[in-house]
Amino acid sequence: MELCVALDLPTKEENLNLIRMIKDYDVWLKVGLRSYIRDGENFLKDIKKINPDFKIFLDLKLYDIPNTMADAAESIMGLNVDMFNVHASAGKTAMCEVMKRLQKYDTRPIVLAVTALTSFSEDEFSEVYEKSISEKADQFAKDAYDSGLDGVVCSAFESESIKSVTSKQFMTLTPGIRPFGEDAGDQKRVADVAFAKNSLVDFIVVGRPIYNAKNPEEVLKRILETL
Ligand code: C5P
Repeated sequence: MELCVALDLPTKEENLNLIRMIKDYDVWLKVGLRSYIRDGENFLKDIKKINPDFKIFLDLKLYDIPNTMADAAESIMGLNVDMFNVHASAGKTAMCEVMKRLQKYDTRPIVLAVTALTSFSEDEFSEVYEKSISEKADQFAKDAYDSGLDGVVCSAFESESIKSVTSKQFMTLTPGIRPFGEDAGDQKRVADVAFAKNSLVDFIVVGRPIYNAKNPEEVLKRILETL
């Protein structure tokens, strides 16, 4: 299991300070909407300047018509990132189109599909999708698997079931991790590191429990020890 640190801080400088603090650790970095919209491609370059070995997950959760998503995926190819994601609810045609468009490249990033956001409660989720989270997450995962994606974003609670309906090799990446029982914030389905590990999760994403800690490096070290 690998650790992916979410870079969701209010300014680029604060994100860069955090990256400098953790530059010698073997972790992935997640650049999401807030940071990418504000700081763009230059931020990705700044990360690589601090340590070229950092792997970057660009978490933009693409959701649009198939052609627009495939165009966006091709633009992402120029950003030199190691992983990005799309929404499974954009549909199989869109996911297939994205993967088809990436076929012409010798190497490509890992492509994941978002199933159910970890901030959804059961009630809220069923209002939107009219099914339970576990049922719909399995379905989204099967769609992503059939479309040739490499894995999904889900909560730790869905990881095992998703692997059983797809493949053990089909990756799961789980946000909503509170490594040692920290405050959940807006996340509804939170799990700790031990639970994620037992659920065969491939990547855990941790944001606030690291960057809001008094000593982020200490928390990161503790997490890596438990992996
Ligand atoms: O601060 P926290 O650890 O809750 O951060 C989780 C990160 O993972 C945030 O950047 C959030 O946007 C992202 N994420 C999520 N749930 C998903 C997909 C991404 O929380 N399903």
